[in-house]
Amino acid sequence: MKNFKIAVIAGDGIGPDVIEEGKKVLSGIAKLDGTFNVEFTDFPWGCEYYLREGRMMPEDGLSILKDFDAIYLGAVGYPGVPDDVSLQGLLLKIRKGFDEYINLRPVKLLKGAPCPLKDVKEEDIDMIVVRENSEGEYANVGSRLYPGTEQEIALQTGVFSRKGCERVIRYAYELAQKEGKSLTNISKANALGYSMVFWNEIFAEVGKEYPDVPTSSLMVDAASMFFVKNPKRFQIVVTSNLFGDILTDLGAAIAGGMGLAAGANLNPEKNFPSMFEPIHGSAPDIAGKGLANPLAAIWSVSQMLDFFGEETWGQKVIDAIETLLLEKKTLTPDLGGTAKTDEIGAAILEILGRK
Ligand code: NAD
Ligand code: IPM
Ligand code: MN
Repeated sequence: MKNFKIAVIAGDGIGPDVIEEGKKVLSGIAKLDGTFNVEFTDFPWGCEYYLREGRMMPEDGLSILKDFDAIYLGAVGYPGVPDDVSLQGLLLKIRKGFDEYINLRPVKLLKGAPCPLKDVKEEDIDMIVVRENSEGEYANVGSRLYPGTEQEIALQTGVFSRKGCERVIRYAYELAQKEGKSLTNISKANALGYSMVFWNEIFAEVGKEYPDVPTSSLMVDAASMFFVKNPKRFQIVVTSNLFGDILTDLGAAIAGGMGLAAGANLNPEKNFPSMFEPIHGSAPDIAGKGLANPLAAIWSVSQMLDFFGEETWGQKVIDAIETLLLEKKTLTPDLGGTAKTDEIGAAILEILGRK
């Protein structure tokens, strides 16, 4: 029997609450299916670990994770530990260390999900954002000079390599071609005359190999406006690390909220484990209250199942989330319900178990 080994880093704040529900759903599916097994190994890494040990994960953390089939991550960051320390020490270290250069973030309005836009039908919001996930604005190269003086300077350099741009852009073209969809390139070459001009050149260059993929290009500011005014124009989207980060929170807002937005951090070559997570943070404002919506974490289970080659189950999980939203019986407060976080996993499994 297939055995999928999953490293679980529940992390901080609402991370453990939502991950618990995702684990319930995944082990329930393995039981229902009967042809594969899932084996979870929990790692207590995060901000509490940092306060005890002085680091977010052990020094050999990456080699501990290296042989797992996937990583399932909740959220990282909590007041008391500076965000740059917590995120650079765990989440971003894994994304970069494992060369998870594709961040796949569906922005899809499911039936029954709330949408703040007027006159929008479900099928109007159905895109996949392919975010560069290993370099760009997140390379974190820079310096601080003359600290504490009037001349103090902070330098933060973006790093856009030919290899880095090409591989994410190619991935997006391949995806668009496979799905018969259009591809929108989102950049900002009018102001960023080195990095984004380079990015656009590579978009055009790679595009020559995909003459059948309809493309368009937008500046990130205009794209943000169109996410709200005309989301229908987007199918597959490719963009840089920082722009993808910002646009997918906006995407979450138009497609049901932070509680419904998932993301897969992929190393497509499978040289390293890929990582699956809700895109929201640790939400300290609602942590420990049973208020967190675990559907984003459950959606990322669907992405994990796709990645394992269990696409039928991946789709069934999305369908079950949709049924839950339509039935409106077991929803957390962000979706207008009164259910607690720990009721959602069982409700999804109940739907999956229906004949
Ligand atoms: P956040 O996503 O944690 O919260 C933003 C808002 O959305 C809050 O009002 C929160 O209550 C709400 N929200 C988020 N997830 C929700 C859910 N599942 N159900 C219901 N409501 C939900 O963003 P933030 O407040 O900017 O960040 C909090 C901390 O999380 C910071 O330390 C930040 O660095 C970190 N962070 C981590 C990740 C990650 O680990 N992937 C992502 C974003 C932010
Ligand atoms: C996300 C988060 C992270 C990012 C932060 C926590 C570093 O916002 O996954 O969207 O910016 O990538
Ligand atoms: Mn983000």
